[in-house]
Amino acid sequence: MTSVAVSGLCKAFGSQVVLRGLDLEVADGSLTAVLGPSGSGKTTLLRILAGFEHAEEGTVALGGTVVAGGRTHVPPERRHIGYVPQDGALFPHLSAADNVAFGLGRTERRGRRVEDLLGLVGLAGQGRRFPHELSGGQQQRVAVARALATRPGLVLLDEPFSSLDAAMRAEVREDVARVLRETGSTALLVTHDQDEALSLADEVAVLREGLVAQRGTPEALYSSPLDPAMARFVGDANLLPGDRRGAEVETALGRLPVQHGGALPEGGRAVVLVRPEQLALDLGAGKGIRATVVESQYFGHDMVVTLEAEGGAGRLRARLSSAAPLAVGTEVGVQVTGPVAAWPAGDSGAAPSA
Ligand SMILES: Nc1ncnc2c1ncn2[C@@H]1O[C@H](COP(=O)(O)OP(=O)(O)OP(=O)(O)O)[C@@H](O)[C@H]1O
Ligand SMILES: [Mg+2]
Repeated sequence: MTSVAVSGLCKAFGSQVVLRGLDLEVADGSLTAVLGPSGSGKTTLLRILAGFEHAEEGTVALGGTVVAGGRTHVPPERRHIGYVPQDGALFPHLSAADNVAFGLGRTERRGRRVEDLLGLVGLAGQGRRFPHELSGGQQQRVAVARALATRPGLVLLDEPFSSLDAAMRAEVREDVARVLRETGSTALLVTHDQDEALSLADEVAVLREGLVAQRGTPEALYSSPLDPAMARFVGDANLLPGDRRGAEVETALGRLPVQHGGALPEGGRAVVLVRPEQLALDLGAGKGIRATVVESQYFGHDMVVTLEAEGGAGRLRARLSSAAPLAVGTEVGVQVTGPVAAWPAGDSGAAPSA
């Protein structure tokens, strides 16, 4: 197990600046996700950590020892890192077992280690199959087993589930999270998928314009985003205008308690975040603000309804756990449950760089 401390990392390709002074810490034994849009520098960051790429400035320390920075550059093979690259990249001419065994010494190759690792990722007895005989999900499992084989202090995973279809993605990602926890690995996973980051990680760091714009537990990030742009980036968001009134904010949906007020001056104009699952709909007595269903997406486990609300609230998205779909045109009452986040109006935050 190895903690990671990255400080002041700068990296450019020609005139294109990708990282501009990035700081990041990963605690021993934790799973941290770096979340950023495509092209934000996630792979570049992992390649610098692994030692495949040089940063122009900044330091990387693993387990308290500087491995990159100043004149120091510890080569990749001496960093004791397991790497699962973005495309999995198994050796096509080697069997699953030989792929896993690739970095192992002779004794361990012959022992139980390889079969144990295959078992750990759910592929017991499948070691003789070649990559082309495995599904995409099975290939990713082999890639993870290979990265864990040498008992690395740190495992880096580059969007390891992005090529898998939705059903398999959920299954492989749960299994990989379990394996990482069971082996006590410190892991850094990069992804552009918000659900993946929030559901898997102990801590999430959001990469925006070459920096970690915000870092925190999934709950903190989701309920107290730094600014409206961050609120949108980490989840589905209704953003409404409002006015600060003490510990509350006055909106078209009523007076709402503010949980995360930022630097809101009393009486000042605010942008208010109401998550779709915070909207409760009343079909009967019509409690709350009146609204009409204009669109309804039914997902089985829940549904997302777009509403046109009266009284200046405009379009709203509501996420409901409901037994039956709601027809377009249905009239409902809308109420907000729970506290909201709010920021001074005009403080929109930078859009995540694409
Ligand atoms: N070797 C390279 N030479 C030149 N430009 C590069 C190189 N590697 C990356 N870049 C550029 O740096 C930026 C960041 O790339 P990177 O691959 O780190 O992004 P990413 O966040 O991993 O994106 P994705 O989610 O699409 O994988 C991109 O604009 C990319 O074109
Ligand atoms: Mg990438």
